[in-house]
Amino acid sequence: MSTIAARPPLTDARLLHDLEEVVERELNRHLRVFKEWMPHEYVPWSRGRDFDGPLGGDPWSAEQSPLTDVGRVALVVNLLTEDNLPSYHHEIATLFGRDGAWGTWVHQWTAEEARHSMALRDYLVASRAVDPVALERARMTHMSGGFVSDNRHSPLHTVAYVAFQELATRVSHRNTGHESGDPVCDRMLAQVANDENLHMIFYRNLLKAAFELAPDQAMQAVNEVVTDFRMPGHGMPGFERAAVQIALGGVYNLRVHHDDVLQPVLRHLKIMDIGGLGPDGLKAQQELGAHLAGLAAQAGRFDERRAAILARRAKANG
Ligand SMILES: [Fe+2]
Ligand SMILES: [Fe+2]
Repeated sequence: MSTIAARPPLTDARLLHDLEEVVERELNRHLRVFKEWMPHEYVPWSRGRDFDGPLGGDPWSAEQSPLTDVGRVALVVNLLTEDNLPSYHHEIATLFGRDGAWGTWVHQWTAEEARHSMALRDYLVASRAVDPVALERARMTHMSGGFVSDNRHSPLHTVAYVAFQELATRVSHRNTGHESGDPVCDRMLAQVANDENLHMIFYRNLLKAAFELAPDQAMQAVNEVVTDFRMPGHGMPGFERAAVQIALGGVYNLRVHHDDVLQPVLRHLKIMDIGGLGPDGLKAQQELGAHLAGLAAQAGRFDERRAAILARRAKANG
């Protein structure tokens, strides 16, 4: 085996500059495949009516909507996550800049993301799926806390994080739709999930290009991001409790995270087969492999625990 001399690491400014042509290419590809859709067409307005308050309508109560409990909880978590878009925009605009192809992408992405909270909130309010007062208070609390990215120190870490995070969001929306108990909700969330998938592809392709430019740095970034991964909604009110319900409900848990989020991106990058790494890259690749093996074992234990809890519940209800 030949020894490869360590390359001097690329600065963030250099990486951003060198990746810009990839951003431009991927942006153009994204715009070609992205299909316009109208959030209002997915909202069941005919189920809506005035609420109490200035219009003197009916107050909200839980039995007004057919949604499952897990559907309700997951929809609120997903919506509050989408709601913090101004903070996400701030974080990526600060890091990627608002000029050139990077800037065009940042603004395009922001405009597409804004559609998601629109569709979700309109659905929840029109269909009376959740308490609108509690929802509005949770939005105020969550948004006024702001969001600070764990990866704001590094464009490479940020690209790696968002590649996984967009896929996590896709899977979370899609599974929420499947578990919601309402086909109208499922259809709307499939549409949102489709956008998230296109965002994932954009960032995944960018990450792939980063591996060609700076393989050791990219490997270190992916290793650190995968090891420390947490969802952007972690700071919202009641997140821990909601996360347990979402995990047991099969919307998002360790099994889903490992099988449907981490693995598809890592397999696409052929991460464990990347050769020609220097000592730092090699060390990161080995750590990543060990971490993934640990995660797979943890996911197996989670599956068993979940099956036992669900069996106990079925027995208690049956
Ligand atoms: Fe979104
Ligand atoms: Fe997205």
